[in-house]
Amino acid sequence: MRVSLIALESWYEARRRFQHRVEPALCCTSAIMTAVTTTILVLTTVTLLSTGKKFRWCTLSDLEQRKCAELSKVLLNVLPPATINSFARVSCIRAHDTYDCIEKIRMNKADAVSLDAGVVYSAVKLFGLTMAAKEVYAEGACIFAVAVARQGTLNIQKLKGTRSCHNGARWTSGWNIPLGFLLARNDLIWDEDQPLSHVISDYFNASCIPGIGVTTPQLCSLCQGQKSFIREKNHFCESSGDEPFYASEGAFRCLKSGIADVAFLDHLTIMNVTESEHEEYELLCPDGSTAHLNAYGNCNLGHGPGRAVVTRDNFQKITKKFLTLIQNLFGKKGKERARFELFTSAPFSGKNLLFHDATQHLQVVEEEAELSHVLGLDYVALLQGLGHEGSSLSNSLVRWCCISNAELRKCEEWALNVKSDPLVCVQADSMINCIELIKNNGADAVTLDATHAYFAKKCALVPVAAECYGLECTKPRREERKEWLTPLTALPPIYTVALTKKNAKHINIHNLEGRRSCHSHVYSPGGWLLLSQYTVRALENESLSCNISSAYQDYFWKSCMPGANGNLCKVCIGQKDMEGDKGLARCAANHDERYYGNMGALRCLLGDPSGRNFGDVAFLEHHNLLQNIEYLDSSGWGAGNASSDFELLCPDGLRAAVEDWKTCNLGPVPSNIVVTRSVTVSKINSFLQHSQEPSPGSTFQLFQSQQYGESDLLFKDATHYLVPTRQLDYEAILGASFFQLAASVFNCTHADILDLCRQDTCTYTAPH
Ligand SMILES: *[C@@H]1O[C@H](CO)[C@@H](O)[C@H](O)[C@H]1NC(C)=O
Ligand SMILES: *[C@@H]1O[C@H](CO)[C@@H](O)[C@H](O)[C@H]1NC(C)=O
Ligand SMILES: *[C@@H]1O[C@H](CO)[C@@H](O)[C@H](O)[C@H]1NC(C)=O
Ligand SMILES: *[C@@H]1O[C@H](CO)[C@@H](O)[C@H](O)[C@H]1NC(C)=O
Ligand SMILES: *[C@@H]1O[C@H](CO)[C@@H](O)[C@H](O)[C@H]1NC(C)=O
Ligand SMILES: *[C@@H]1O[C@H](CO)[C@@H](O)[C@H](O)[C@H]1NC(C)=O
Repeated sequence: MRVSLIALESWYEARRRFQHRVEPALCCTSAIMTAVTTTILVLTTVTLLSTGKKFRWCTLSDLEQRKCAELSKVLLNVLPPATINSFARVSCIRAHDTYDCIEKIRMNKADAVSLDAGVVYSAVKLFGLTMAAKEVYAEGACIFAVAVARQGTLNIQKLKGTRSCHNGARWTSGWNIPLGFLLARNDLIWDEDQPLSHVISDYFNASCIPGIGVTTPQLCSLCQGQKSFIREKNHFCESSGDEPFYASEGAFRCLKSGIADVAFLDHLTIMNVTESEHEEYELLCPDGSTAHLNAYGNCNLGHGPGRAVVTRDNFQKITKKFLTLIQNLFGKKGKERARFELFTSAPFSGKNLLFHDATQHLQVVEEEAELSHVLGLDYVALLQGLGHEGSSLSNSLVRWCCISNAELRKCEEWALNVKSDPLVCVQADSMINCIELIKNNGADAVTLDATHAYFAKKCALVPVAAECYGLECTKPRREERKEWLTPLTALPPIYTVALTKKNAKHINIHNLEGRRSCHSHVYSPGGWLLLSQYTVRALENESLSCNISSAYQDYFWKSCMPGANGNLCKVCIGQKDMEGDKGLARCAANHDERYYGNMGALRCLLGDPSGRNFGDVAFLEHHNLLQNIEYLDSSGWGAGNASSDFELLCPDGLRAAVEDWKTCNLGPVPSNIVVTRSVTVSKINSFLQHSQEPSPGSTFQLFQSQQYGESDLLFKDATHYLVPTRQLDYEAILGASFFQLAASVFNCTHADILDLCRQDTCTYTAPH
């Protein structure tokens, strides 16, 4: 029996019916750190296995069948007789399409096959197979997804309504990454009430997407495989070599045939095109420009895992040994490569037979390796978002990440007041933790300050909306929205100020060294990053001040900088409040630390109710300073203090009244940004738009926090409107100077989250 796509789709249906629960994926920081693969090194031939069985490779075309048969023949010749009973006998099992291969392996009628990573994901998650090895190319195991068109005919903004060729349904470069890209840009609107394939079918005029199934004929209409009512003879739109437009070679062939406008495929395919093809075709870049086919490193829709070998769970060890054996014999450096080359298909007049021709070697996967670590967290979250496991309830929810009990209380009230997609509040313990949760598909969105937004960029999350402060920020009318973005950085900014008590007359900006300081939190755009220019980076010796985390430790006597460590935590008090509760959550990077945030830094300056644990100076933002001073006075914390009891420290060494923040500040702080994964951008965007519509009868205020005893919960209190960021990137939103300051500081200041994200498969590869 063979699993057709119809069967697969009904499998999705079945799964959908069983998935009624949201399973918040909790985070797995340390697990990412674990290396997931090892390189095959040694030839371990003789005592491998003695089952006496043949190793059965699954093939998808007659040409592949021929190459496999040759492998079988040569192997028999080169292996010493003692091993005859083990791997010397390879048999080649011809399958109808990729899902037929998966089914044959599952039913123990074949043993292994190399497939696109997107199909590997289905094979593992839906059909219980396991990965044995991944193909590694000259630039690593990842591929770039590119869009190719005839020169001068198209750009990425004009894709809608075109005719398209894709290497395969649910494949990395022909489906997952391009669709993630279009969803992230809001070009493709998927409300998840209908299958994604229907949305794609409406988006393109006509397509060939081998393996998509029969429910959306438009998506097969450009294919050219033989049609038949007999299932075994039908090759039309199937994922096998019998469909001429199958795989990346096929997608390029589809474009070249003249029946289509654009082809979505991997960069490996265009690496070896002819001179005339170079002249005739070009890449479509995300910014709307086009580029030479060689420029795929800079002009692509994204980066994802390449192909990998799958097998049955109980056959993984044997498969890995078999792969090690054949690659030691016939790989790029194989001893017997004169007789047979595993990663070459030319002798059989084909391309990418059994393995991709660009494969340099096969990297076996560790036994216990998690799929998400082998394929990459970003990729797995993308696939889940695209509904590869069928749609689950979490696809129809918005999961907002909250960092403290106070945020959770506000979020729950928000959830009671939303009229669109249901809101679920997920608790994390810091903004960093929220970034991890969103990457892991355990939450969908969070608002980040500018420094954390820089981290989010490095972690491949995408911006959805930016907070807009001041009365100028009224909701843009629909038709204005595009132009609205340009002045985003020109809108009234929020300033960082250095606040001190008026009676501490001797303090000025130049003599802060050795004092007690209060900062809203570690990595705060104002009280950590911008501040460095007036303190630790203002020092003469650059090399001493490069690592600002350690420089701050030496600079201040003691501080409360929630989320830091050492003497930067000594002034913090945790949850201790007026009733004198225990100091739980001390120095936590969230509001559970009473000295966290703009309100917290003000509390810190005043000192705790026992009159201890105070600072000489607080670095905070001006926007809610006056309200916070009033609030603390009325709530009894530092009662009797009014704004006239404080002064600002100006960069010129003078002091000024609290109200003079416009002329006495440490610099403007970029807007906070709402971030999410690329697939959920349009969902979060429409959710936020709905959340800001007036809701009669509701008293809930999205941009107020004082009723929860804090400031800036979920959003800054000064926010008037959340502006969709559309296609602007982080650098454009944060401003080039802030972005470059962050880049230069994190060049030599360590942040765990950057290491973590750098290690995720395919997130990072040096452009060439
Ligand atoms: C898409 O198809 C329609 C109807 O077949 C046609 O009018 C339209 O021009 C096509 N669009 C493009 C971009 O080719
Ligand atoms: C591409 O071309 C190079 C040299 O021009 C060759 O070594 C390599 O095998 C080719 N790769 C493919 C995938 O055809
Ligand atoms: C900076 O400090 C380092 C370490 O103390 C020292 O070796 C170096 O000479 C100093 N550079 C300058 C320009 O003072
Ligand atoms: C401000 O608060 C501090 C700390 O609670 C207190 O000691 C001081 O008396 C207050 N100042 C005024 C003017 O009431
Ligand atoms: C980071 O450091 C490298 C080498 O130390 C330097 O070339 C690069 O310009 C630095 N980047 C920034 C943004 O400062
Ligand atoms: C910077 O300083 C911190 C704190 O002292 C230290 O943990 C870290 O190893 C230092 N180096 C880098 C590269 O961040």
